[in-house]
Amino acid sequence: MVAGRGRNLRIPRKSAEELECMAQAGAIAGEALAAAAAAVRPGISSLELDRIAEEVIRAAGAEPSFKGYRGYPATLCVEINDVVVHGIPRADEIVREGDVVGLDVGAFYLGFHADTATTVAVGEVSEAAQALVRATEEALRLGIAQAIAGNLLSEISRAIEGHVERCGFSCVRDLVGHGIGRQMHEPPQIPNFYSPRQFPDYDVRLRPGMVLAIEPMVNAGGAALRVDDDRWTMRTADGQLSAHFEHTVAVSKEGPVILTTPRKVRLA
Ligand code: MF3
Ligand code: CO
Ligand code: CO
Repeated sequence: MVAGRGRNLRIPRKSAEELECMAQAGAIAGEALAAAAAAVRPGISSLELDRIAEEVIRAAGAEPSFKGYRGYPATLCVEINDVVVHGIPRADEIVREGDVVGLDVGAFYLGFHADTATTVAVGEVSEAAQALVRATEEALRLGIAQAIAGNLLSEISRAIEGHVERCGFSCVRDLVGHGIGRQMHEPPQIPNFYSPRQFPDYDVRLRPGMVLAIEPMVNAGGAALRVDDDRWTMRTADGQLSAHFEHTVAVSKEGPVILTTPRKVRLA
C-alpha cells in the first residue's frame, strides 16, 4: 500500500475463530496466486493471468479483494520488469522470455481479506534478475521470522532492509506492508526500511492475534518510483527491474503463521 503519515494506535487483534476465517481466505488467495504463477509463460497476456486467478477465487466462493478497491478494475496486479506494483492486467500486455513477472492477489472470504504476492522469472533471465528475485524472497522470509510476539515492528523492517542492502539492492520507500483483516489495509504500516522519524508505528509491540501483510518491494537500481498516466501502474524511475513478494502472517504465541500458503480448499 502507499505509505501514509501519522500514528495508528488501534491495531485489531483477531480471535482464534477469526484467524481460522483468515486462514481460509489465505488458502484461497494462495491457490489463486499459485495457479496464476504456474500459468506464466511466454505468449500469455496479463489479462489471461487475471482470469485464472479470478476463477480460482470465485470457484472457492470467495471474492477478489482488489476488484473495485478505490476503483481498481481487476483481480490481479501484474508487475512486469520495471513495474513495482498495481500493474493493471491487459489483453495486449504479453509475457516474454526473460521477463520478471510479479503477481499480487487478494481474496475476501468469511468477512476477511488475505493478500499475497510472488515474482517469477520467465525462462532464461539474467544473473542480475535472478539475484534480485532471490534476495527479495529471502528478505520476506527474514521479515516473517521477526513477526514474533514481543518484538517491535521495526525488527521486521530492519531484517528486510538489512538483507536487501547487503545484496546491493534498494527497498522501495513510497510503499509499505500493512495490517490486514476485515479491511485489506489496516494499521500498522510495515515499512521495508528503518527511518524512525517517518513512521511512529516502528515501536508497535507485536502481540498474538495481529495479522500482518509483509511485502518487500525491491529495486535493482534506485528506490524512486514514477506513476503511469493510468494513475495506478507504479514503475521504477530509472527503468531497472523490481521484485515483490508478500505473505499474510499471523503473530501467535507459537511464532509466525503464514496464512497465504496454497492448499486445496473445499468449495463453498
Ligand atoms: N495488494 C496490494 C497490497 O499489497 C494492494 C492492491 S491495491 C489495488 O497492498 F487497488 F490494486 F487493489
Ligand atoms: Co498485495
Ligand atoms: Co499488501
